[in-house]
Amino acid sequence: MEFSLTEEHIMIQKAARDFAIASCLPGVIERDEMQIFPKEQVGQLADLGFLGMMVDESWGGAGLDTISYVIAMEEISKVDASTSVCMSVNNSLVCWGLEEYGNDFQKHKYLKPLAAGKKNNELYIGAFLLSEPEAGSDATSQHTTAEDNGDYFLMNGTKNWITNGSSASVYLVMAQTDAAKGSKGINTFIVEKNTEGITIGAKENKMGIRGSDTHSISFVDVKVPKENLIGTDGFGFQFAMKTLAGGRIGIASQALGIASGAYERSVAYAKQRRTFGKEIGQHQAIQFKLADMATRIEAARLLCFKAAWEKDHHLDYTVSSSMAKVFASETAMWVTTEAVQIHGGYGYVKEYHVERLMRDAKITQIYEGTSEVQRIVIGRSVLK
Ligand code: CAA
Repeated sequence: MEFSLTEEHIMIQKAARDFAIASCLPGVIERDEMQIFPKEQVGQLADLGFLGMMVDESWGGAGLDTISYVIAMEEISKVDASTSVCMSVNNSLVCWGLEEYGNDFQKHKYLKPLAAGKKNNELYIGAFLLSEPEAGSDATSQHTTAEDNGDYFLMNGTKNWITNGSSASVYLVMAQTDAAKGSKGINTFIVEKNTEGITIGAKENKMGIRGSDTHSISFVDVKVPKENLIGTDGFGFQFAMKTLAGGRIGIASQALGIASGAYERSVAYAKQRRTFGKEIGQHQAIQFKLADMATRIEAARLLCFKAAWEKDHHLDYTVSSSMAKVFASETAMWVTTEAVQIHGGYGYVKEYHVERLMRDAKITQIYEGTSEVQRIVIGRSVLK
């Protein structure tokens, strides 16, 4: 067993940290307040090779391991979770699935520019369209349909809560092609955003990750070319589940970063703020909070690394990724709440960042499978 990072991992950590401080920190409060999509920052992620980190170099990616991805996600999420969620969705939910299950035509046409994050010098990212108004946790209840019309599939339906909804150029859409077959009648399609019949709803006015653009997207008689079906007929639900297993490592790392960001700010504050004649860190009430934060964050980090290590070693990482996600996201919620408490009144105002981190933490317990869904996945495996 080896716990130390390699030289390459340390370099990636430094690059991600430098990027977060130099490019994400300036304006992060305003972007949150005004719900501004971090277009410039996501463009810089593309230049750093962070939008297709794990994609093989032959397909335009950086060819790095999943541990590197966890490290980079943690560093960026410490500062700006609205930027890191775009990175996570593009890496895990879009590029990974295309590389693993797409054919060469699909990889040439879509994976290459998506892994680079740019096409013709313009931002080129993807989105993952599984959730619907009546299919969130109950993901097999897909109402969006894709009817086989011979030359193309005709798609109709509405998707909800789509990260990168308006900024993405390419959507991976799950739809029902044969309702009688249940989950085996679901397929995944590559759909270009500018296809006729697609309408993007208003940007959701969210509690946290307010910079990221979350939209509903509706499809009315959208013609999807036959060659844009991913994998064999009926593979769509499995595709979604396998893709989400990796996505959950990304969101676990995002939660880890949000927690670490709040913790680092709390340690700095505890050394600077004085009450009753000493630094507040010298009061045991605060010291114990910091000790518990540090311990839970370390445990969350180890779970993220374990899931990433299993993925890199081609082992089944479904359960470890759910464990990492449920633990890291609950850690993030707890740590950020305690961080606000440590900061007292200052924690409740925007300038000190911890209230934003607390709002951002909440979504990590909800998206890419709620904490309850993660417990379903873990519980079923325990009882198997
Ligand atoms: N790998 C491969 N196949 C899998 C699988 C996996 N990990 N999990 C399930 N399947 C298969 C099952 O074996 C089953 O096939 P059989 O019928 O042949 O046995 C089929 O898929 C249906 O599975 P279940 O019977 O387990 O389905 P279920 O209805 O009980 O649901 C669930 C299981 C775990 C709750 C699943 O529905 C789920 O994960 N829900 C949450 C969905 C989710 O995470 N949504 C996030 C949206 S994306 C997002 O948030 C992105 C963003 O923008 C940031």
